[in-house]
Amino acid sequence: MEIRPLTGGLGAEIIGANICDPNQFGDIQAAFSEFSVIVIRGQDIAPEDHLDFARRFGPINVNRFFKPVDGHPEIATVLKEKDQKQAVGEGWHTDHSYDQIPAMGSILHAIEIPPYGGDTLFVSMAAAYDALSSPMQAFLGGLSAVHSSRHVFGAETLTSEAAKTGRLGNAAAATQDARHPVVLTHPLSGRRGLFVNPVFTTHIEGLTAEESEAVLRMLYEHCKQPEFQCRVRWQAGDITMWDNRATWHKAINDYHGFRRLMHRITVEGEALSGV
Ligand code: SIN
Repeated sequence: MEIRPLTGGLGAEIIGANICDPNQFGDIQAAFSEFSVIVIRGQDIAPEDHLDFARRFGPINVNRFFKPVDGHPEIATVLKEKDQKQAVGEGWHTDHSYDQIPAMGSILHAIEIPPYGGDTLFVSMAAAYDALSSPMQAFLGGLSAVHSSRHVFGAETLTSEAAKTGRLGNAAAATQDARHPVVLTHPLSGRRGLFVNPVFTTHIEGLTAEESEAVLRMLYEHCKQPEFQCRVRWQAGDITMWDNRATWHKAINDYHGFRRLMHRITVEGEALSGV
């Protein structure tokens, strides 16, 4: 297989790999640890193959809110129909940051792709952390932030198009709140990285509401710099896997009038450590 870095910040494309071949798993896992986002091109696979590949990384985390694939409750459907306006995952976010032990990452398989658009953007939270000044790093290193699922998947979101069309549901299960360090030491790489995101983080503990809002706003603007990003341009059959503890991601909703269907499997993580 050939591994080509996508940008200087993060991400790599893997050509000529077969996720069903257990002998290739070591190289794929090493690329995942190094690049945080890997795009494995051209996988003509069944849902069972997708599940077998995910289980090599760890136990599956069954999503509470996404509509499952028929016959496969462990696989979430990420879908936008051609007459729908809202995509799932349009805001910059880290999946499952509201859980006490956030998921390790997700493995997204492109089933049906629009003729243009529908890319996914990623940010390296380690590159964003490294670019902060030493005094800011020291300040953030002593802080924790609260994350919640309530305002994103709970009852107040029942009027969203995604809820009304059945793509997201189970609002009563949106009861998760979790407290995590603002700066993590990554469990695989040992690199430090920011762990706050615009969708699920509600506030930084110990600061006033105004201070928390100002610090988070500053960090979010900082993290959005193109130098920390990579962009995945999908082809049907591609698999992209990302590390939730090291990245943000965002689905680009620029393909109105076309259908986009992805299958997503999420793998359990481990307890997080600060600095
Ligand atoms: C997600 O946020 O998990 C979906 C990303 C995408 O559809 O590109």
